[in-house]
Amino acid sequence: MTDVPADKLTNETLKKKSVEALAKEEAVQELERLALEIARADIAYHQNDAPEISDAEYDFLRRRNELIEERFPKLVRDDSPSKKVGAKASSRFEKVQHTVPMLSLGNTFNDEEAHKFDESVRKFLNLSADEPLAYVAEPKIDGLSASLRYENGKFVLGATRGDGQEGENITLNLLTMQAIPRKIKNAPDVLEVRGEVYMAKADFQSLNKAQEKKGDKIFANPRNAAAGFLRQKDPANTARVPLGFFAYTWGAVSAPFAQTQWEALQKFSDWGFTTNPDTALCENMEDVLAAYRRIERQRASLEYDIDGVVYKVNQLGFQERLGFRSRTPRWATAHKFPAERATTILEDIDIQVGRTGALTPVAKLKPVTVGGVVVSNATLHNEDEIERKDIRKGDTVVVQRAGDVIPQIVEVILSERKKNAKKFEPLKECPICGSHAVRDINANTGKEDAVRRCTGGLICEAQAVERLKHFVSRQALDIDGLGAKQIEAFFIEGLVREPADIFTLEARDKKSLTPLRNREGYGETSVRNLFAGINARRAPDLARLIFALGIRHVGETTGRLLAQTYGSFEAFQTAAKKIAGSDEAASKELISVDGIGGTVVAALADFFGEQHNIDAVDRLMSEISPQAAQKVKSDSAVSGKIVVFTGKLELMTRDEAKARASALGAKVSGSVSAKTDILVAGPGAGSKLTKAQDLGIQTMTEEEWLKLIDAN
Ligand code: IVH
Repeated sequence: MTDVPADKLTNETLKKKSVEALAKEEAVQELERLALEIARADIAYHQNDAPEISDAEYDFLRRRNELIEERFPKLVRDDSPSKKVGAKASSRFEKVQHTVPMLSLGNTFNDEEAHKFDESVRKFLNLSADEPLAYVAEPKIDGLSASLRYENGKFVLGATRGDGQEGENITLNLLTMQAIPRKIKNAPDVLEVRGEVYMAKADFQSLNKAQEKKGDKIFANPRNAAAGFLRQKDPANTARVPLGFFAYTWGAVSAPFAQTQWEALQKFSDWGFTTNPDTALCENMEDVLAAYRRIERQRASLEYDIDGVVYKVNQLGFQERLGFRSRTPRWATAHKFPAERATTILEDIDIQVGRTGALTPVAKLKPVTVGGVVVSNATLHNEDEIERKDIRKGDTVVVQRAGDVIPQIVEVILSERKKNAKKFEPLKECPICGSHAVRDINANTGKEDAVRRCTGGLICEAQAVERLKHFVSRQALDIDGLGAKQIEAFFIEGLVREPADIFTLEARDKKSLTPLRNREGYGETSVRNLFAGINARRAPDLARLIFALGIRHVGETTGRLLAQTYGSFEAFQTAAKKIAGSDEAASKELISVDGIGGTVVAALADFFGEQHNIDAVDRLMSEISPQAAQKVKSDSAVSGKIVVFTGKLELMTRDEAKARASALGAKVSGSVSAKTDILVAGPGAGSKLTKAQDLGIQTMTEEEWLKLIDAN
């Protein structure tokens, strides 16, 4: 193993994958790929407790997504990872709706970014650089978060984070833990204490030894072990292992109990929770970074894994004003430790074919231990990346991971390259169907797409299988008992080749000479459950169905928007066919929907421009009757309203004003038009105010606006 200076590599990789160099069309591709990869990683991590990529790689993907979105704000996808946290909860436990969402943290990778975080907080709050702004620095525990609800001092409900909105009820499992008080005194009537459940490193080692002896599952790291045991159906199993809990934040509370983060932690400790002893109250960024370095030095000798330091604005009044972006608070960030690295040999480069025909190279590595986990795969993103890093079969490469499994290749050690090492030659044919695989030329930029795609379309089995997997996946039709494995098996046998086949499977099986129930791996009950699962989806949710079709650029949110716009599948299909037939009115109508742009319209035209797609959809529709879509609920006084801010705002910064308005469901626009509902005008308002008055639009002062929204 060669040790490579961490900072150097982190920066180098970021630089090499320059977002600046991306053409618009490449950015579209990249955002699509990132959305997919991140979604896949979320499921592996949150639902299966079996991460497929390292934390560092995951952070990198999210980061890249964020940067590309910053550069191309118009390209932000409706299913963008920046809009959601984690993956949907697994179906094993009862679901719990979080009253206050359990969010994630934004990341910071070096001192400069930490300072930028401080600057952004100050800017939002309109604090100058020399005004005091204290932070609390807490070790970032590498475990899994849990929310503990206390009512009248009694522990009544414990939940995992799940996707941030909905978690799993693991109350009984949490009750087996010593670190969780059953009763607390002098607390608000309702109090949700949130923190991290973890397994100590030593306990993890002895657990794995015992598991090995028994021939049981070996856990990749303490985090996975903690997750595995916390989500056992039988709480007696959870009780078998020692788990710890650090309290660090809260969800719903019936009454405020502190004015600062520091005081809140003190309260937690008074109530009998463990808070982390290495937490520091910091007067300024200098103190914050000193705390980071101190905690980093202690890292190896701590009893538990940590992967960074969390900085939180100390004043809760400020925290409240700063509020949240869609998935992260503005008042906190996680300053991550550099990832762990090792060197190994790249034995081969495999090509995988995805649902949209994208060919993705995957590095097959000689297994190597990185930070305690054996690693043998790494995603190589695309061929440009291989070219940029000049990665060749047989090379000695530096791989990186932070807390979890499949890492990324950060660099090739050129001095160790074999003389006869050949440059990577991109496959010009799809490895599955043999069709040409090409990189399209972007009509706008004249540049090649980053992604090579198989042109086989329907004849490419890889694409067909991946589309079917997508069709039944959790976010799409979510068919119980029909997962990726079954789809693959049914596809190979020829039982299911397109979505409609799923719904005719039972009828065909009844007549079959070799019905499923007689086959190995299937029993009477599992077959019955499978058909019940399928039949339960004969009236699918319209939004899910539209998403399930796998039309490019139609993610979950776009699916929802389309469902809300058209109300029924028939109306959607009629409009989409018109759009495909270049009907201008239909295209215009759709483009005018907020959140839908030209890319989606073009993608619909492509999909419904192909007769074989229309036929497949028709066959599907003769088996199912989708539900009509429900209109979105709006309960704040300003939700759905288009609001424009103009002039000088004196009670809050413009960013804060916009953030609060959007949080209440209003749409903030930069210009006044007939569609504008409210104009909030501060001193010095000029032409926008005049225009609004001319158009008879409701105008109000900043105070009036605040009064209006405070009523919510
Ligand atoms: S605060 C709204 N504090 O890190 C902010 N999170 O990457 C809520 N974590 O989901 C999180 N130590 O599971 C916070 N001291 C700490 C933490 C911490 C570990 C975890 C937590 C969170 C994840 C975000």
